[in-house]
Amino acid sequence: MKPLKIGKHTIKHPIIQGGMGLGISWDRLAGSVSKHGGLGVISAVGTGYYEDKKYAKKLVEGRPLLESEFYNRDALFKIVENARKICSDAPLGCNVLYAINDYGRVVKDACEAGVDIIITGAGLPMDMPEYTKDFPDVALVPIVSTGRAFKLIAKRWEKRYGRIPDAVIVEGPLSGGHQGFKYEDCLKEENQLEHLIPDVRAEVDKWDPNIPVIAAGGIWSHEDIVKFMELGADGVQLGTRFALTHECDASDEFKQILLNAKKEDIVLMKSPVGYPARGIRTKLIEKVEKREGPVIKCISNCVFPCNRGEEARKVGYCIADRLADAYLGDEELGLYFSGAYAYKADKLLSVEELMKELIGE
Ligand SMILES: Cc1cc2nc3c(=O)[nH]c(=O)nc-3n(C[C@H](O)[C@H](O)[C@H](O)COP(=O)(O)O)c2cc1C
Repeated sequence: MKPLKIGKHTIKHPIIQGGMGLGISWDRLAGSVSKHGGLGVISAVGTGYYEDKKYAKKLVEGRPLLESEFYNRDALFKIVENARKICSDAPLGCNVLYAINDYGRVVKDACEAGVDIIITGAGLPMDMPEYTKDFPDVALVPIVSTGRAFKLIAKRWEKRYGRIPDAVIVEGPLSGGHQGFKYEDCLKEENQLEHLIPDVRAEVDKWDPNIPVIAAGGIWSHEDIVKFMELGADGVQLGTRFALTHECDASDEFKQILLNAKKEDIVLMKSPVGYPARGIRTKLIEKVEKREGPVIKCISNCVFPCNRGEEARKVGYCIADRLADAYLGDEELGLYFSGAYAYKADKLLSVEELMKELIGE
C-alpha cells in the first residue's frame, strides 16, 4: 500500500481514522493512529466535555452553555497538545462538521491549535478556505457522497479562493453516524460505496488526477481496503473499527454496547441534524419512539439545522445531550452511533494491532 499524500502531508499508510463525536476520537485515539502511521483525526464536537468539563467556564445543569462552551477552544488546544505528546509531528487531522454553530471559529481554533488537515462533512463546506487563509499548510478535505457535490465545492473554491480540495472523502450509506443521503436513498443500490467511488473519481480526475479519493463507510478488513483501491480509491477512512480499540476515548460502556450489538440492532434513525444517522437501537431509541425521551432544553446550541431545539423536539431528542451521555457511558440515555458492521467485532484491539491487520501484515 502506497503512502497517502494530502496537500503537503504524507501519511505512511493510506488509512484515516474518521473523526467521531462526541469524545470518541480525541487525543488518545487520534494520537495513537497517527503514531502508528495512519491519519488520526480529532473530533471537534463537544470538547467542553473533555476531562470532566474542566475547561468549560459556564455550565447549566452540567452541560456546556451555548456553542462557545460546547465547542470549547481551550479544551481543543489541550486535546491537540496531548495528541502531539503521542504522535509527535506525524500528520494529525481535525474533523469539524459543517452543520455546527460557530463552524468558522472552530476551524480557525483547530488550525491555531496545530493540526495539519481539516476534514468537514455534514453539509457542503462552500466557504471552508475562508477560515484557513492564515494557515496555507493546512490541507482541506471535504466529505461528499457524489461526484456532483465535489464539482460544486471545487468550482466555488477555485473561483473564490483559487484552490480546490487537497483530497476528498467519499462516504457511503453503511457508515456510522450521519448519512449524506435521505433515508430511502441510503438503501438504493446505486448509492452504495462501490458505485460512488468511480463517480467521484471521474469528477476529481477532471480537476486534478493527483487529488486523493478516500473511501469510507462499511470498510472492515484488509480485503475491503484492497477492493476499494481497485475501484479507484487512494485511501480509506474507517470509524467503527477504531471506536473498538483500547485507545478509543469513549467510555468502556460505549465500547461494550458496540461489542454487544447484533446485526438487527444497528439501524438508521432520525436526527435533529436533518440527515438520517446510523446507530444502535438502545433503550433511548425505544423511549424516543414512544415520545418518552428526556426533556429537550437546548443548553448547548450545537447545530444550526436544529434551530435551537425545534428539530430536536420534532425527532424527540437533543443530539448534544444524548451523544454526551453515550460518551459518559449512560446506557439509558446515551445515543450510540455505529457503522453497519459493528456486529462483526467480538473484542477490542490495540490501535497497533488494528493498523497491522488493516495493512495486511
Ligand atoms: C460513533 C461514531 C461517531 C461519528 N461521528 C462523526 C463526526 O462527528 N463527524 C464525522 O464527519 N463523521 C463521524 N462519524 C463517521 C466516521 O468518521 C466514519 O466516516 C465512518 O464511521 C465510516 O464508516 P464505518 O464506521 O463503517 O467505518 C462517526 C462514526 C461513528 C461510528
